Amino acid sequence: MADKSQIQKMFRTISPTYDLLNSLLSFHIDKWWRKKTIALFQPQWRQQNKQIILDLCSGTLDLSLQIVKNSKPHIKVVALDFCYEMLQEGKKKIPADWKNRIFLVCADIEHLPVRDNVAGGAVMGFGLRNLIDRQKGLEQIKRTLKPLAKLAILEFSQPNSRFFQALYYLYFLHILPMIGGLISGNSYAYKYLPNSVLKFYTPKQLQKILQQVGFGKVRFSLLTGGIATLHVGKKYVT
Ligand SMILES: C[S@@+](CC[C@H](N)C(=O)[O-])C[C@H]1O[C@@H](n2cnc3c(N)ncnc32)[C@H](O)[C@@H]1O
Repeated sequence: MADKSQIQKMFRTISPTYDLLNSLLSFHIDKWWRKKTIALFQPQWRQQNKQIILDLCSGTLDLSLQIVKNSKPHIKVVALDFCYEMLQEGKKKIPADWKNRIFLVCADIEHLPVRDNVAGGAVMGFGLRNLIDRQKGLEQIKRTLKPLAKLAILEFSQPNSRFFQALYYLYFLHILPMIGGLISGNSYAYKYLPNSVLKFYTPKQLQKILQQVGFGKVRFSLLTGGIATLHVGKKYVT
């Protein structure tokens, strides 16, 4: 099991090639997954009240940019990640006229520097799996959300069809680490990726954890035969 500083270092080393490899290794499907994630919030963004949306483990800001693209100026994004270099890669992609809508914060999700009950929503794309203390991270997210605000978590999962599994594991456990290692120069990172997915919760387990932390109406949808899962829940106050 990697520790926090190893994870930080790993993302630092792969930051220059992260976006390229994301698109290449997922055959661009990641873009569609992110659009589905953001679509969950669009009805609430049509209301004109100002809202802050947290993009947690924001990396190179793909979800933040999707949020801004699909909402009006009253929606602002605070993107948080503990890897400065990932945020810097993301910063290069922010168009000049969006600079007052995305705010970058280099911070640990397990110690969120955000006040209680301020965020109108939160997204976390492929981040939760990397947290050392996931329970603490989820509690921190819940603390910062306004009552009834939504949290959407996009994460890798494992396919459910036997036939697809065979093909998927061949690709995910052998081909992807090879290509990822060659292009990024960090073979550890692209072995860590499938290993961490295999050890991660099943969608049903994560649903239960979210409920235990205090999220209600928790549901999930399997994407692309189950290789990714989109979870959504609302902060409940008891
Ligand atoms: C796989 S990347 C996902 C990036 C982005 N959300 C996306 O959809 O592509 C995971 C990110 O989580 C960040 N991360 C991991 N653990 C973290 C923690 N405890 N606090 C803040 N960021 C963390 C890493 O630095 C990395 O940028």
